[in-house]
Amino acid sequence: ATLAGCSRPVDGPGTGELLTSELPLPERFRTPLPIPPVARPVKVTADTDHYLITQRVARAELIPGTKTEIWGYDGLFPGPTLRGRKGRRMVVTVRNELPVPTSTHLHGGVTPAESDGFPTDLILPAGYSPAPPGHHSAAGRRHDTSRDYTYPMTQRAATLWYHDHRMDFTGPQVWRGLAGLFLVTDEVEDALPLPRDDRDLPLMICDRSFAADGSLKYPRRDTTHPGAGGIFHAGIFGDVILVNGAPWPRAEVPAVRHRLRLVNASNARRYRLSLSAGTITQIGSDAGLLAAPLPREDVLLAPGERVDVIADFTGLPAGTEVTMANTLGDGPAGDVMRFVITGPAADDSGVPARLSAVAALERTRAVTERRFDFRFGGGLWTINNQPYDPAGTMFSAGLGTVELWRFTSDFHHPVHVHLAHFQVLSRGANGPEPGDAGWKDTVDVRPYETVQVLVDLSGHRGRYLLHCHNLEHEDMAMMANFDIV
Ligand code: C2O
Ligand code: CU
Repeated sequence: ATLAGCSRPVDGPGTGELLTSELPLPERFRTPLPIPPVARPVKVTADTDHYLITQRVARAELIPGTKTEIWGYDGLFPGPTLRGRKGRRMVVTVRNELPVPTSTHLHGGVTPAESDGFPTDLILPAGYSPAPPGHHSAAGRRHDTSRDYTYPMTQRAATLWYHDHRMDFTGPQVWRGLAGLFLVTDEVEDALPLPRDDRDLPLMICDRSFAADGSLKYPRRDTTHPGAGGIFHAGIFGDVILVNGAPWPRAEVPAVRHRLRLVNASNARRYRLSLSAGTITQIGSDAGLLAAPLPREDVLLAPGERVDVIADFTGLPAGTEVTMANTLGDGPAGDVMRFVITGPAADDSGVPARLSAVAALERTRAVTERRFDFRFGGGLWTINNQPYDPAGTMFSAGLGTVELWRFTSDFHHPVHVHLAHFQVLSRGANGPEPGDAGWKDTVDVRPYETVQVLVDLSGHRGRYLLHCHNLEHEDMAMMANFDIV
């Protein structure tokens, strides 16, 4: 295996290789932008909303006129949008009717460990069960064909997402469609005059490639384990950019402010997004609203990251085409979607100078400093030279403490921490960049760069994950467990 396709530009598309589609690419900016349906609870009690989601094989029309087999939550790609409300507990039962085991992780969720979607907490495929229902394996973990994930929803409003997290197979399983949006709201956000309803657009962006028969194209591989003939992957890029599952879509919108919740659900691709007209103001990051709005020329999105922006189209004449471009992408990957302005409309939205309370974590509060080196070695992607050990733990940290973590890297690695949110303290020799503002759960670490973060280890006790969100790196062992005690 070689590192072919990995270049080391500081601001390139990331670490990976491009898979070229074998069918004619659809014309850009023709397909209407879909908005994933919002899931409805199957049961509502005094304090809890219950949902049921079935993972299944389905045929979807991603490319107009072509059927593509996907693996989807409720047979959809993206899956149905889950809407959480701070203070209302949610229980999401995920039933697996796919031919493979799965595990569902709520990315950005402050979730008890048993509901976090640990990579070996598998939901077995219905119809394939080596053990009777409810059987406990030697490790004591339940092996069932469905699983209840409990989300306490004690966290603030934020744009989260959920996706598959099966050990060694997250890349191919997310690529086939196992990802959806999870939007949390709260009273603080409700009180702000931000654009809402059809002017609040979640945009899940991911790249894919298609084989000649319309199927999703992903490298075949038998194993990812070292020494067993595993095929090395640097990361997989597609040449078709999907937004909410549609290739380079188009949205007709009035000339008013819109809230765009940008989610990078790509396996490996980084984006730098800009609009050809209008302005963008960042209002939120991974884990919710910023303290104050931040005017931006463009925004960077590494895999797993979210950026919440207000796109202001006020004053643009009817018929104006506003293209969202990706300046890190070559050729077709340089375009994302297009807004077409329909005309003026009333707009009572606004972007207040103060959005939310974000208390800066002080460095002096850090009780421990830790260093995590993300590096290629021994045919694997490793953290501190260690490949992932699902049974072990790299370190323990005290519940309720703050720690300083220092990430270093050889290539592009988007570093994601489960449970604990953090603030970026420094990047390279400088302070944080504008895109590092606010509470984060994923941070873009560029080649040969050191990023320091202050991690708020509150929430729950238990075993959690720290990993690279380049899904091919993740599958090739760039993960570590840690315990909150
Ligand atoms: Cu979005 Cu551990 O993942
Ligand atoms: Cu990585």
